[in-house]
Amino acid sequence: MAGRFWIRGGRVLDPASGRDEIADLLVDDGRVVAVEPALAGVADAEEVDAHGLWVAPGFVDLHAHLREPGQEYKEDIASGGRAAAAGGFTSVACMANTEPVNDDPSVTDYILDRARKDSPVRVFPVAAATRGLAGEVMTEMAALVAAGAVAFSDDGKTIMDSGMQRRVLEYSRLVEKPVMVHAEDRTLVGDGVVNEGAVSTRLGLPGNPAVAEVVHVARDLLLAELTGAHLHVAHVSTAGAVALVREARARGVHVTAEVTPHHVTLTDEAALGYDPNTKMAPPLRGKDDVAACVLGLADGTLDAIATDHAPHAVHEKEVEFTAAPPGVLGFETAFAVVMELVRRGQLTPLQLMANLSWNPARVLGLPHGRLERGAAADLVLLDPERRWSYDPAQGFSKSRNSPWAGQTLAGRVIATWVAGRLVHQVGRGALAT
Ligand code: DOR
Repeated sequence: MAGRFWIRGGRVLDPASGRDEIADLLVDDGRVVAVEPALAGVADAEEVDAHGLWVAPGFVDLHAHLREPGQEYKEDIASGGRAAAAGGFTSVACMANTEPVNDDPSVTDYILDRARKDSPVRVFPVAAATRGLAGEVMTEMAALVAAGAVAFSDDGKTIMDSGMQRRVLEYSRLVEKPVMVHAEDRTLVGDGVVNEGAVSTRLGLPGNPAVAEVVHVARDLLLAELTGAHLHVAHVSTAGAVALVREARARGVHVTAEVTPHHVTLTDEAALGYDPNTKMAPPLRGKDDVAACVLGLADGTLDAIATDHAPHAVHEKEVEFTAAPPGVLGFETAFAVVMELVRRGQLTPLQLMANLSWNPARVLGLPHGRLERGAAADLVLLDPERRWSYDPAQGFSKSRNSPWAGQTLAGRVIATWVAGRLVHQVGRGALAT
């Protein structure tokens, strides 16, 4: 059973209620019992000194690749769960591109079973929309939801067949779950490995044009409008997609969207050194796209920051740029990386916390991401200024593919609790699962 403790004197940021004030927070038996500016008469509670720190709901990641089953040499549910806890994430939605693909209730069951045994954080499986992510035969959505799937996605692959996408959206209404789309028109992506533009020309590498994303988002928004389904656009990376989501929402389309830490802080120029750790799908874009994504977060067009944590082994990434698989680690660096937007005055601390917790919880309809009385005590303690040097080899992930490796970052997750259990504390190795 989780204990009784008292987090004193921190800046409590609760986007669900709009609370942003110095306050104390009392946790008992895994739940938030009280949040008050100055709690009095707290007996028998362990004290956690939070002066100078932020206290916020545990982060909710809509988009991660935990690689289990099938690619445990890159990551597994235990290592991914520990890395998530170290990054302040208390709930993680994991994508279906495992081996075998999570297109069958037995795989969903397996993931949830491993998570119960091995993961310090809550794990929510996203099931495939089509069998084998092949875009040809729909999965059994109702059976997958009964097994515990929270959403559907062929992430990593795109459903190119518009008729199939329409049917996926139609059926998703019956099970009342979002369809998360990896929006890249494969015929426009071609062999592209970096954003098409000056950088791809300088590098002499095939370009992946922004329009590949925009075309696809336009199609899916029209289909969401037609079907009335909940469309969730994964890892938005272009100004065109942000504009389309904004317009569609204004005319009543049920659309939500996420953006990654890398797409709001790095441009395609990061790839100028041919480092495969700057290769991901969709690719890093130009500065106008990055600015539009940041603005999209600030004005609420983009609902959530999701990591797209995508571990790949050293031997897979240490090859020439075109041969390397796309994807970068995300959990352990996310908070520090996106704190940059707060430091630049582009997001308020409360907005940032909303994008990391309350908003993504609402996208999936989860009862998390808030600090009110009675809520499960999924919490993070954050030092917004603390500088630290990031070495993936010292982190919890099995993989090392990060564009921030070796950098000094500012903003540190000090502690993470899931249902009142301490699952991460800075400077202390792995805690209990
Ligand atoms: O960069 C990416 N990596 N994008 C995806 O959509 C898939 C992911 C992966 O699974 O590695």
